[in-house]
Amino acid sequence: MKISIIGSGYVGLVTGACFAKLNNEVICVDIDKDKVEKINRGISPFYEKGLDVLLKDVKDRLKATTDIKNAVINSDVTFICVGTPRGLVGEADLSYIESACKDIGEALKRKDEYHLVVVKSTVPPGTTEHRIKPLLEEVSKKETYKDFGLAMNPEFLREGNAIEDFMNPDRIVIGVKDDRSKEILLELYKDFNCPKLIVSPTTAEMIKYASNAFLAIKISFINEIGNLCKALGIDVYEVAKGIGLDKRIGKHFLRAGIGFGGSCFPKDVKALINKAREHFYHPIILNAALEINEAQPYKLVDLLEKKAGNLRGKDVTVLGLAFKPNTDDVREAPSIKIVNALLNKGAKVHVYDPKAMENFKRLFGNKIDYCNSAREAVSKSKYVLIVTEWNEFKDKELYKEKYVFDGRRVDEAKELAKYYEGVCW
Ligand code: UGA
Repeated sequence: MKISIIGSGYVGLVTGACFAKLNNEVICVDIDKDKVEKINRGISPFYEKGLDVLLKDVKDRLKATTDIKNAVINSDVTFICVGTPRGLVGEADLSYIESACKDIGEALKRKDEYHLVVVKSTVPPGTTEHRIKPLLEEVSKKETYKDFGLAMNPEFLREGNAIEDFMNPDRIVIGVKDDRSKEILLELYKDFNCPKLIVSPTTAEMIKYASNAFLAIKISFINEIGNLCKALGIDVYEVAKGIGLDKRIGKHFLRAGIGFGGSCFPKDVKALINKAREHFYHPIILNAALEINEAQPYKLVDLLEKKAGNLRGKDVTVLGLAFKPNTDDVREAPSIKIVNALLNKGAKVHVYDPKAMENFKRLFGNKIDYCNSAREAVSKSKYVLIVTEWNEFKDKELYKEKYVFDGRRVDEAKELAKYYEGVCW
């Protein structure tokens, strides 16, 4: 099929590259000219494991452009993959979606053939049917399900693992109201051997929010149990193993530590809370998950202070800035709260991350010292905080004679550190 992808961020570009790998012809659209140019040279504009190699591999079948209308006109299916950032009161900001829809509508107006529009961006329940559909119809002067199709097809890609997640999904959710849209998507996903769930667009939107909310709650749950375990002298990782073996609970997303970050969980849980409020419902568990997560990063700084005393003038090393390993993304990363707290307390902060240094520099400028390697960063202080569990931080030698405060349970750090303490254990 000929596919256009609107928005070439983590979701859009990975989706585009994977569809191209599956022998579709793909046009990726973005407003950022530099990004477009890089993609056309087979270079990923951000770090995502395996994406550079994949882009080079599919160079003949994947092109990028800033011209959204031509991309839509010259394709059969358009995936909307633009961001839905957090708005002022926690709601999902749909301005990028609306702007994309207006351009798609203009293109549909000029196009005679049938076209399928698929919403992949994470949008609150009801958005596809009550905002996107009317907008597309108003601008295109055409009728949904007759002149063009409309579907909601959420993504479940983890950053740092996105290609693997795309190619081996647990399920594919297809939110549709008409048979033609359904058939096109089933054809597009025909090679995927996993359950395919056909639901309404609004249900598909809720499945996405409920999935992220559940995972966020699972993390906050184990962090709460972890905090309690710490007080009781119990290892929460043993507890997590013990409960995770129960198939009804499952072993994943039970790693206790400094909490979840990233562009999805914090934003999506807030957007769901906001949606609930619009309907006069007070979501107790969702609020609690965020409350626990908010406090979790500061526990690492508390542990440090307990041992080091007043931090004013003291050197502290932070290993890991990305919100998780295998990505350069620092959005809502616990590292931001931790470094801010250290600076407020007057510490001299030395940081290192294998991929996220440039993104962190944009936030902290010259307020902190950026080191070229973990070894260099560690050499500058007696106190080391582990904030992201990158593989290279598993090198035990790094921690020899150091006071280590571990926010992510890097077991290897325990063995050689002079003094070791973890957040929840
Ligand atoms: C998340 C979901 O996992 C994806 O399924 C979803 O598609 C994506 O959001 C999205 O909505 O686009 P992502 O944010 O990339 O993916 O990363 P995760 O691997 O889910 O990790 C999120 C955060 O939770 C990280 O900060 C991680 O360190 C933390 N985490 C994860 C824990 O603290 N403990 C765990 O056991 C697992």
